Amino acid sequence: MTSSNPAYGELTSQGNSTNIVWHHSTVTRAARCHQRGHRSAILWFTGLSGAGKSTLANAVNSALFEQGMACYVLDGDNVRHGLCKDLGFSDADREENIRRIGEVARLFVDAGVVALTAFVSPFKADRDKVRALVEPGDFIEIYCAADLGVCEQRDTKGLYAKARAGEIKEFTGISSPYEAPESPELSIDTGSQDLDACVAQVLAYLESKGIIPQAS
Ligand code: ADX
Repeated sequence: MTSSNPAYGELTSQGNSTNIVWHHSTVTRAARCHQRGHRSAILWFTGLSGAGKSTLANAVNSALFEQGMACYVLDGDNVRHGLCKDLGFSDADREENIRRIGEVARLFVDAGVVALTAFVSPFKADRDKVRALVEPGDFIEIYCAADLGVCEQRDTKGLYAKARAGEIKEFTGISSPYEAPESPELSIDTGSQDLDACVAQVLAYLESKGIIPQAS
């Protein structure tokens, strides 16, 4: 999948999984991407709750889909309905949440799909671990830069009010930290720009990096 995969036929151990052998896929990522006419990548949207991650990821996903591309949104709230429903919001659980999603997103990259992830992902170290899972250029960190005041004023889910009232513990931005990216591939002002302008910024970046073809 990546250059760090074990050699053919080599017995390895990964965590509690002992005596396992990596099976190399007969259909490669390169073949899949060639067939589809675009590269695969992880578009990692990060930001406070209410910053507009899911909205922007879904709008970019729709634009890519309209152009016939293979793409899929992995959304924090949705993934916590299933794959990660055993996890809460402690630092350790958030770390495990991001680790799992990073691994899932890596599978999507191998499958030739543009994976758009919309998770608060508040910790830099956790995001950097996902970056390290894939080849350079495959992880595109997109900071949805709406500040706390704007997110709290929007309070689309009513969670900030609950957090301020002490009804939700460890709420990001209120009682749990958010570490903004230091050098994201993209920083998007989702606090004041309109959605179309934000989408255009992401698409222009993807075109400039040759991930998707130039719009005609
Ligand atoms: S992450 O920190 O582990 O990346 P994730 O993106 O999966 O978080 O989930 C965040 C969503 O869960 C928020 O958009 C919000 O709807 C909800 N949520 C519930 N409790 C919290 C909390 N304590 N902190 C942040 N978000 C919370």
